[in-house]
Amino acid sequence: MALRRFFVGGNWKMNGNKESLEELITTLNTASLHDETEVVCAAPSIYLDFARSSLDPRIGVAAQNCYKVAKGAFTGEISPSMIKDCGVDWVILGHSERRHVFGEGDELIGQKVAHALESDLGVIACIGEKLEEREAGTTEEVVYAQTQVIAENVKDWGKVVLAYEPVWAIGTGKTASPEQAQEVHEKLRAWLRANVSDDVADSVRIIYGGSVTGANCKELASQGDVDGFLVGGASLKPEFVDIINARA
Ligand code: PGA
Repeated sequence: MALRRFFVGGNWKMNGNKESLEELITTLNTASLHDETEVVCAAPSIYLDFARSSLDPRIGVAAQNCYKVAKGAFTGEISPSMIKDCGVDWVILGHSERRHVFGEGDELIGQKVAHALESDLGVIACIGEKLEEREAGTTEEVVYAQTQVIAENVKDWGKVVLAYEPVWAIGTGKTASPEQAQEVHEKLRAWLRANVSDDVADSVRIIYGGSVTGANCKELASQGDVDGFLVGGASLKPEFVDIINARA
C-alpha cells in the first residue's frame, strides 16, 4: 500500500488582519512541527503574497478559491496563474461555504478543478453532505456524486487532496465521531478504487474537516483512512500546532 503523507490544511476563511496573522505566522514558524506532516495554510486572497513571504518555506500556502480561466473580464475573481505568480501552490475548491453561501454548483466546481490542475496548482477538493441529507440516509449518494464530478475533471490525482467535510460539522462545534469519519473515508476510497484505479485509491489523501480541535484530532487521526485535516476555526489558534502534530 502506498504511503500517504499526513496532510493538514488551515483554512483561515475571511479572518484576521496583518497584525493577527503575523502573530499566527510567527507561532507556526517557530513551532516544532512533525516532519512527516504536510502543512498548508489557506489565506484570504488579499493576503496570499503576505502569507507566502512571511511563512517558513516548509509551510505551504493555498488560495481559498479561484476562477476557471487564466485571465479576462471577471471583476473580483483571481486566477490560478495569479496564485502561482505569488509563489502559492495550492487552492481549495468546492468548499461548503462556496457551495452553499455563494451558490457554486458541481459543474462550475469541476471546471475550476480542471483549470487549476492544468495550471499546475494542487487542489484541495471539498465534498460533504448537509444535515438533512445525512438524516435522510443519502450521505453516500451525495458525496459520491460530488466526487464523480471532481473525478471527471482530474487527469493527475498526484496533485489532489480530497477533503470530506460534512456541512453539519463545519463551524458548529459538532465534530463527526472518529467512526463516522472513518466510515465515509473508507467508502470514498472504495469508490476511487472502483471508479478510478487501485493506485489512486491507495495514494490519494482523504482528509476530514468540520470542528477539528486540538482535543479531538488525535482520535480522528488514528483512523486508517483519515489522512489529515482541513481546519477552520482552530487553524487561527496556537492549537493548530497540536493538530499538525496529531500523528507525531
Ligand atoms: P471548522 O471549519 O474547523 O471551523 O469547522 C472547517 C472548514 O470549513 O474547512
